[in-house]
Amino acid sequence: MTRPGFDMLRRPSLILACLMCIPAMVCMAQESNPLASDPKAAETGRWMFRIYCAPCHGIHADGGRGPDLTRGIYNAGDRDIDLFRAISRGVPGTEMAAYSGRVEDDGIWRLVSYIKSVARPENSSLHGDAAAGQKIFWDKGGCGACHRVGDRGSSLGPDLTRVGRLRSVAYLRTSILNPDADVTPGYATVTVVTRDGKTISGVEKNYDNFSAQLMDLSGRYYSFLREDVTSMKREPRSLMPSTYERLLSGSEIDDLLTYLISLRGAQ
Ligand code: HEC
Ligand code: HEC
Repeated sequence: MTRPGFDMLRRPSLILACLMCIPAMVCMAQESNPLASDPKAAETGRWMFRIYCAPCHGIHADGGRGPDLTRGIYNAGDRDIDLFRAISRGVPGTEMAAYSGRVEDDGIWRLVSYIKSVARPENSSLHGDAAAGQKIFWDKGGCGACHRVGDRGSSLGPDLTRVGRLRSVAYLRTSILNPDADVTPGYATVTVVTRDGKTISGVEKNYDNFSAQLMDLSGRYYSFLREDVTSMKREPRSLMPSTYERLLSGSEIDDLLTYLISLRGAQ
């Protein structure tokens, strides 16, 4: 009986098949961008992006009909291979088509290089401790009194379960330090003065010419008709305390931001 190795030597076609296998295997195992160290890759990727992708993702990749790709955080995952797959296979059921038939693998890696090159550095420049931030969120910051993460917390303010996907670090920082700067749509403050002179403020749940529904800080729900009250108004200010800049140190705020940006919903 001959050993398998000898047997193979007598069958060149098998050897050939194996040699052809190797590059394919290497390709499949390629988890990181083979062009990562090529400075020109991002540049050619940029030109390709303008042709194929800009109509939806914007000329600077910062979004339009398709999502902003400069955030450094992607639904598909944050590794190069995740972006590669999103481009080559598309995102089924959405407008994001598969490009594997139109663009060679090499070109797709160039697009990945380009997308990586425009990722804003803000996320990577954040060096807080997410676990410490989580503790601040539920304890010292008392954020859970108004916000929900997963099935924990309260729903006076916006649900933060996926906030790390939706918002940038800069936006989150402003939300915490200066809540009135950009009030989340649907969360303005409604103030009602009743006929007997009581003032009730809360987050709008519904507001129109004739009526207002609101939730106050204790989570109590109110509903008023305009004709039954002395006054009723909605203002673009936040019920979120604007005291966090004093209450929390700079590094505590970084920890909190690192925690918030890590919130990406159920995987
Ligand atoms: C017809 C519009 C359209 C075109 C053209 C388009 N995309 Fe998209 N793309 C989308 C949409 C919409 C999504 C979001 C899909 C979803 O809902 O997850 C998306 C998602 C993506 C994602 C995943 C983002 C993430 O967070 O996971 C990447 C990466 C991407 N596109 C890159 C590209 C590249 C590179 C091109 C050009 C080769 C391109 N797209 C062309 C509409 C488009
Ligand atoms: C008294 C209730 C309350 C507390 C406590 C509170 N918030 Fe808020 N928060 C709100 C309300 C109401 C809004 C919506 C209005 C706005 O944009 O400020 C909001 C908005 C936000 C937003 C913007 C969400 C988005 O997607 O637009 C973030 C982020 C946020 N809060 C984080 C925090 C953190 C972190 C803490 C704790 C340090 C905290 N909040 C404490 C009530 C609160």
